[in-house]
Amino acid sequence: MNRFEGKAVLLTGAASGMGRATARRLTAEGAAVFGVDRDEAGLEQTAGEIGSGRFVPHVADVSDEQAVIAAVAAAREQLGGLDVLANVAGIQRTTPLATLTVAELQELFAVNTIGTALFCREAALHLPDHTGVIVNIASSAATHGHPYMAAYAASKGAVLALTQTLAAELAPRGIRVLAISPGGVRTPLTAKVTFPEDADRSYYGRVLPLLGFGEPEDVAAAIAFAASADGRYWTGSELRLDGGSHI
Ligand SMILES: NC(=O)c1ccc[n+]([C@@H]2O[C@H](COP(=O)([O-])OP(=O)(O)OC[C@H]3O[C@@H](n4cnc5c(N)ncnc54)[C@H](O)[C@@H]3O)[C@@H](O)[C@H]2O)c1
Repeated sequence: MNRFEGKAVLLTGAASGMGRATARRLTAEGAAVFGVDRDEAGLEQTAGEIGSGRFVPHVADVSDEQAVIAAVAAAREQLGGLDVLANVAGIQRTTPLATLTVAELQELFAVNTIGTALFCREAALHLPDHTGVIVNIASSAATHGHPYMAAYAASKGAVLALTQTLAAELAPRGIRVLAISPGGVRTPLTAKVTFPEDADRSYYGRVLPLLGFGEPEDVAAAIAFAASADGRYWTGSELRLDGGSHI
């Protein structure tokens, strides 16, 4: 498929996991991808895997407003425009309520929510009317009570609220805004998850996917559908891509 021939994509989180898989998928379908991440070595690895000159790495912290403004300007300049924004960068923490700190709440909201909002604001100014698309990665934790993930879940719930609001706000210009909420996907992020020693083990049964853990490529395929013309009737809503964790 060549659904992204001639399309310019700004993708955050491109140095790892789902972001890297999305960079591979969209460039394979013809896109030029401007990949933002704070992990320079990871971006280089992504660029090496793609190796076609269709991937432009850019080191930036998505929670830094000036860095986001500069990244969007650089993406437009280097790709010659901007058709799609995919907000994939994110962090996760697992903390029982009793030890939840303001610092952790602020960190999760800064990256997951504010980073996403800033890229939406800056990119929307330049996305083309009628064909522009914003894909935000939320999480099934936003809507399905995952114990010990209060700050993470709240930051991702805010991403869903942001998505719905912007879908309504940008609809008059024909710009679509939607969210994909993965469940358990095999990436470096999930490999790092640990639970409190006294965690209630029944928790694990609640969130295990019926289909087993997903792969980053499963999310990349959904992002490719969402951002292509195939997804033209999709806006404002969330796709829960969780292998049946919550049915
Ligand atoms: N893996 C899962 O099971 C799962 C489930 C639901 C949602 N998600 C979400 O999917 C997205 C991708 O996660 P992943 O599993 O591929 O994780 P990952 O850790 O493999 O990749 C996340 C990327 O985001 C980057 N990043 C983090 N903070 C950043 C910052 N401040 N500025 C720039 N880049 C930053 C990291 O460097 C990394 O390259 C995240 O938003 C995550 O919350 C993951």
